[in-house]
Amino acid sequence: MTEKATGPATGAASPGTPSPIRLTAPAIRALKGRRKIAALTAYDAPTAALLDAAGVDLLLVGDSIEMVVYGAADTLGATLERMVAHARAVSGSAKRALVVGDLPYLTYHTTPEEAVRNAARFVVEGGCRAVKLEGGSQRLPMIKAILAAEIPVMGHLGLTPQSVNALGGFKVQGRRATEARRLLDEAKKLADAGVFALVLECVPAELAARITEAIPIPTIGIGAGAGCDGQVLVLHDLVGLAAPGARVPRFVRRYAEVGAVIRDAAAAYVADVRSGAFPSEAESFAAEPGEALPVALYAAGEGRR
Ligand code: KIV
Repeated sequence: MTEKATGPATGAASPGTPSPIRLTAPAIRALKGRRKIAALTAYDAPTAALLDAAGVDLLLVGDSIEMVVYGAADTLGATLERMVAHARAVSGSAKRALVVGDLPYLTYHTTPEEAVRNAARFVVEGGCRAVKLEGGSQRLPMIKAILAAEIPVMGHLGLTPQSVNALGGFKVQGRRATEARRLLDEAKKLADAGVFALVLECVPAELAARITEAIPIPTIGIGAGAGCDGQVLVLHDLVGLAAPGARVPRFVRRYAEVGAVIRDAAAAYVADVRSGAFPSEAESFAAEPGEALPVALYAAGEGRR
């Protein structure tokens, strides 16, 4: 199905197509039941352009940046300032995908007013067309206020990494019946409040499928099985861009080994520099023909120590 300016965009733009129609939050919502949604994280301009050209529907400027780019053990130290700067880089280069800014820890936990002000920074300064935030009922006043300010919101339930201390670690959520029922109930509340899509992270596949059937908005799974309306992964996990020996979550599928490509390229460069094989003549500049070079400026030893 092709994307038309008059209706919800549903298809993937083919690489090289001029001026693709931008996906909006309502267009992503309208994909439920029509085709699966492919989402990835993006944190910089060149990567965003590549993912956009590949047909990724939704680019999340995720607070996972704190771990995969800044090397922290969790996402809690991500700052709005930094996230907004990365969002600007991503939205400046994505032509088709919906760019969603991930509200960092403590930017939407206190008052609805503060949540709106912080969400608006992703839109006004970061160029995002939606924001994501973590949590259920306890976030409803903030979600409603952000929606009232005309900013689409994507929800996030299950393993919510900003709750890592309260949860006691990065653990699968909703394995027990009472917890599963609570998550289903929270998902319905978020959908009723008007979020346009819902991330389900690290929940049993059966529960994610049940939630997907029960709510009218798309579920985007990460470690939540194949029954969701779409999938999201952290780009660095997908392409293998991590320090050697880094732990890879079980739900990740590696499509490339970019880390090994970078390491091998850097090792070859080091060898070439040390041996003098780099740079070659073709990689160097020559003086204008006939120009005298300034070698005579220094008499032997003069001007040098
Ligand atoms: O920050 C992030 O990358 C996320 C995704 C894992 C959903 O929240």
